[in-house]
Amino acid sequence: MKFFIDTADLDEIAEAKSWGCLAGVTTNPSLYARTGGKLADFEPHMLKIAELCEGLPVSAESTATTAEGMIEEGRRLAGLAPNIVVKLPVCEAGLAACRALADEGVRINMTLVFSAPQALLAANAGARYISPFVGRFDDIAQDGISQLADVVACVKNYDWAGRNVDGEVEIITASVRTPNHVTQAALLGADIATVPFAALKKCVRHPLTDQGLASFEADWKKVVEQA
Ligand code: G3P
Repeated sequence: MKFFIDTADLDEIAEAKSWGCLAGVTTNPSLYARTGGKLADFEPHMLKIAELCEGLPVSAESTATTAEGMIEEGRRLAGLAPNIVVKLPVCEAGLAACRALADEGVRINMTLVFSAPQALLAANAGARYISPFVGRFDDIAQDGISQLADVVACVKNYDWAGRNVDGEVEIITASVRTPNHVTQAALLGADIATVPFAALKKCVRHPLTDQGLASFEADWKKVVEQA
């Protein structure tokens, strides 16, 4: 399973990229707002992320609410850099825009997916990536992992050749909050987990690793002192 980072913060992206295991970036309007970004800087900021992550897919979300608006904004976002993936919400307008943009060779990440039927509709509309949300089910005391299991099993049942420019659909586990969400997503065979920086850090670190490092350091100090 590949790791994407779910953020619009350039420093977080640069640090995660420096670890050598980052395969892409996803952003959304809330994440961009959190960086203190202004409306006029939105597209230049997406371009900066795309340049920082050259060769890796970077999802930039449209904020339009009509199919026409999403198509227009999607074309503009996709035109910024070859690695930009246009993120659209699953809804009637989003599906229509997905079909139109996919037919033009634009890669779409269909987001806000909460059920297998939504995921199958997105794949049929030409989505290249499908983003089922996990954590938001936890927020309403439901099991996001079993919903994810349904999405993965249903999408993997079919061959999506010819449906989008790459002829494949990858599942991005989104709304990931904990290392356990990552583990469960990988056990289900999800292709990707997009993880916020803080949760990604928790995936890197483990208390026993820290303890091990501290004891190696202390023992090595003794070796040096005895030399
Ligand atoms: O990738 C979608 C993600 O940003 C949503 O996460 O934590 O707001 O449910 P969350």
